Amino acid sequence: MGRRMRLTPAPIYLFLLICTGGYAFIPGVDGETNLQNLGPVSNVQALEGGSVTLLCDSTPDASDDEFMILVWYKNNQPIYSFEVPDKQWSEPSFNTSSRLVGDIRAQPTSVTITALTEDDEAMYHCRVDFRLSPTRNVGINLTIVVLPSPPFFMDEMSNKVVGRVGPYHDGDTLVLRCLVIGGRPPPRISWYSGDTLVDASDGDSDIPTVRENELYLPLTRDNAAALSCRASNTHLAPPIAATLEIELYLPAYNVSIHWVRGTMGDALRAGAVALAQCTARGSYPQPELSWWLDHKHLTHHSNQTWYNSTLTAVSFLELSPAVIDNGATLACVATNPVMAPSRGSKADVFTLNVTYSPMVDLIRLGDANGNEVVELDSLHLECDVRANPPVERFMWYFNDIEIKPGSIWGDETFSQQLLVEEATRAHAGRYSCAAANNIGETRSDNISITVFYPPECTGIGIRMVKETIHCNVKALPAPDTYFWHLQPSNFEVQHLTTGSPILPLDQITGPLAETLKASCEASNGVASQEEACDRTFSFEHLRPPQPHQCDIAYEFGEFQMRCIPVENATYYEVSVWRMSESNSSLVLERRASMGFGTGRALAAAGPGNSGNAMGGRLAVRAALGRVRRGDEAGARACNRYGCSTPLLLRPTDTLLHEADPPWWHFLLEKDVGISVGAVILVAVFIISTVLVVRLARRPRNKPTPVIQVLQLDDVARNYLDNIGEHKVHASCSLRSCSSGYSDGSGDSGPPVDRRRKPAWERWHEPPPPDVTLTLHRESAV
Ligand SMILES: *[C@@H]1O[C@H](CO)[C@@H](O)[C@H](O)[C@H]1NC(C)=O
Ligand SMILES: *[C@@H]1O[C@H](CO)[C@@H](O)[C@H](O)[C@H]1NC(C)=O
Ligand SMILES: *[C@@H]1O[C@H](CO)[C@@H](O)[C@H](O)[C@H]1NC(C)=O
Ligand SMILES: *[C@@H]1O[C@H](CO)[C@@H](O)[C@H](O)[C@H]1NC(C)=O
Ligand SMILES: *[C@@H]1O[C@H](CO)[C@@H](O)[C@H](O)[C@H]1NC(C)=O
Ligand SMILES: *[C@@H]1O[C@H](CO)[C@@H](O)[C@H](O)[C@H]1NC(C)=O
Ligand SMILES: *[C@@H]1O[C@H](CO)[C@@H](O)[C@H](O)[C@H]1NC(C)=O
Ligand SMILES: *[C@@H]1O[C@H](CO)[C@@H](O)[C@H](O)[C@H]1NC(C)=O
Repeated sequence: MGRRMRLTPAPIYLFLLICTGGYAFIPGVDGETNLQNLGPVSNVQALEGGSVTLLCDSTPDASDDEFMILVWYKNNQPIYSFEVPDKQWSEPSFNTSSRLVGDIRAQPTSVTITALTEDDEAMYHCRVDFRLSPTRNVGINLTIVVLPSPPFFMDEMSNKVVGRVGPYHDGDTLVLRCLVIGGRPPPRISWYSGDTLVDASDGDSDIPTVRENELYLPLTRDNAAALSCRASNTHLAPPIAATLEIELYLPAYNVSIHWVRGTMGDALRAGAVALAQCTARGSYPQPELSWWLDHKHLTHHSNQTWYNSTLTAVSFLELSPAVIDNGATLACVATNPVMAPSRGSKADVFTLNVTYSPMVDLIRLGDANGNEVVELDSLHLECDVRANPPVERFMWYFNDIEIKPGSIWGDETFSQQLLVEEATRAHAGRYSCAAANNIGETRSDNISITVFYPPECTGIGIRMVKETIHCNVKALPAPDTYFWHLQPSNFEVQHLTTGSPILPLDQITGPLAETLKASCEASNGVASQEEACDRTFSFEHLRPPQPHQCDIAYEFGEFQMRCIPVENATYYEVSVWRMSESNSSLVLERRASMGFGTGRALAAAGPGNSGNAMGGRLAVRAALGRVRRGDEAGARACNRYGCSTPLLLRPTDTLLHEADPPWWHFLLEKDVGISVGAVILVAVFIISTVLVVRLARRPRNKPTPVIQVLQLDDVARNYLDNIGEHKVHASCSLRSCSSGYSDGSGDSGPPVDRRRKPAWERWHEPPPPDVTLTLHRESAV
């Protein structure tokens, strides 16, 4: 009852409106007692425990009339009366509880009944009596409304549900009964989701006085608001409602990424920190927001905040993108932890636009390998670049200086490629390129381009250094092969191939005493030399110096030319010149090679001694044969490159005198030979006499030479005795003795090496035998 009392009593004015709403005439409710008490009947409702005011107009119809008495009946039993002038009465059951209060002064008059109970439901009417006018009756059919008890909820299993139901998943169907006990008239029961009526199909339940409404509600995000069940059986009071929260698991329905700071437009800068915000709406319970960059989970630099009133989760991510992240997808995934990932996840993806200044690599195009280019081939370089946004301009550098258009690199010096159709040596150097976009400019590393070119003669070309020929060419790469064409004068051409630019003269076959036509061509694998380097060499500078310190001696019964050896000589020659008898020119009388002394001389040298020495060194010597007054003897040093100019000496008178032949020697002369026979008999006496005289005059021992160089030992003397004075020749040695040069005729050269016979300019003699050379070498050491 206390709960019902809280309900506000219906206002009187509302009652009045209702009261005047509809009239009916009651023909005979109380016909048994007072059939003439007919009058309009109105229906009035009032709440149990509330109050109701019943109205009755007591104004007379005519002005001369007068109101006398007023009586209220309940089901024809008087309960209240008023009598003019001031007599009131009320039925004790009403008066004792003071539930009925009359008010006669106002028009219409009223009685108010409070603390209504169900027993108060009845047909009330009021009877007004006038002095003149007929009695007036007004009927009021009062209905007492009993409010129902508050609704309550039961689930399918008939368990009572209070406050909250669930959890459910999106799409589940909620089945719930709302039950209401009591109420008169029986209440209508309605389901509301939020303020939306969703089900009004109520009915009686199996239990008496209980009504219910069973709800079948497919749950969606849109009807996830609190449910309410409303029971209503009157307009006099608001519906009695009970509410129920639904716990509905929902995936986020909107996940979106946007950039808070660190971007320009939608573009990021490589290496710069940007802050991204991911907002996930509509998830219940709180979702887990995770960040992914190209399927890589980013676990750092993010945090998450949850706003439960709006079901909004916010996550911030600090991202410092790298160049390779350009084009990568950044995803924010909201995952509902209580749902299967397939149902509970929603994501937003953002394709990163990471800008950066260009990354530049210089590469060489074409099938050429390495950084070499052959002269006249093309050189094609490309600036391989990665940039975002795209490159706006390119620049090229050669040896760190920017290449301007119109140079040897052509006009296209601002494009991505640099093309040199025909490379020259001037194109060799360090190249780099630079590319710029609106983020910045970057320059590549240098690459060094080498331009290969075929060999060509340098200014010096081919030249001789000492006993070698140098081929001076420039080429890149350095030549690896040299082709030589060598032609000693009057000799066949020789072709040699070497790997070195230096050719020793001793590799050349043939005489080198005069000139040598030499040419060289190098090859470096790029191309062969176009023009050979050539030159004709003479060898004067390689010939030995003129012998000096020579003398003529008379030894062992003949004249000897003796010289101290000179450097670089491999053999020596001696010649005797005599004045022609028919004209005044010197004619070669004799030529011979010079050797290292006689066997006797060498033998006398002995160990530790310099032997056949002049001034401590071995001397070379040759017999001159017969020398006359006026003759000139020449000595010259020779080697492969020819001979020095001869040193000419004349025998002194003293020497000639020393070597004076026997007085009869003249007889052997051609001019006097004829007369020999005639005077032979006369001469016999004289000759014998003279011989006796000479033998007596000459000492028995050997005549002392004018220049005595050697001491002869016994062995040498024996040898001398055996072969005779006049047969000792200069070219004899202990090992071999070649007499081929003693007569100076020049026709009987040794059989060795005839091919090499040089065309001597003035000396038509073969070179000396090798033995001389051998001796020279031995002595020179
Ligand atoms: C109700 O009863 C009281 C006494 O208890 C009396 O004074 C009063 O006049 C009565 N009122 C009516 C309308 O009869
Ligand atoms: C009075 O009202 C009730 C319901 O409101 C109705 O059943 C009854 O017939 C009415 N009585 C008369 C006399 O009109
Ligand atoms: C998600 O929310 C953003 C910002 O409120 C809005 O621009 C976008 O249209 C929404 N997307 C969807 C699918 O509702
Ligand atoms: C990236 O951003 C830059 C600078 O805003 C812009 O020029 C470029 O077009 C963008 N690239 C893409 C693929 O959107
Ligand atoms: C989350 O991080 C961002 C930047 O990382 C910061 O601005 C924000 O204040 C942080 N919020 C919370 C709640 O920590
Ligand atoms: C949100 O969370 C706060 C504190 O955790 C709590 O008091 C409040 O009732 C929650 N609101 C909703 C709508 O769940
Ligand atoms: C001997 O030959 C060598 C090598 O060719 C040279 O250096 C030297 O000067 C020559 N000596 C003389 C005296 O010519
Ligand atoms: C001089 O005479 C010699 C013979 O005695 C001869 O061979 C030579 O050719 C002559 N010289 C001149 C210039 O006549």
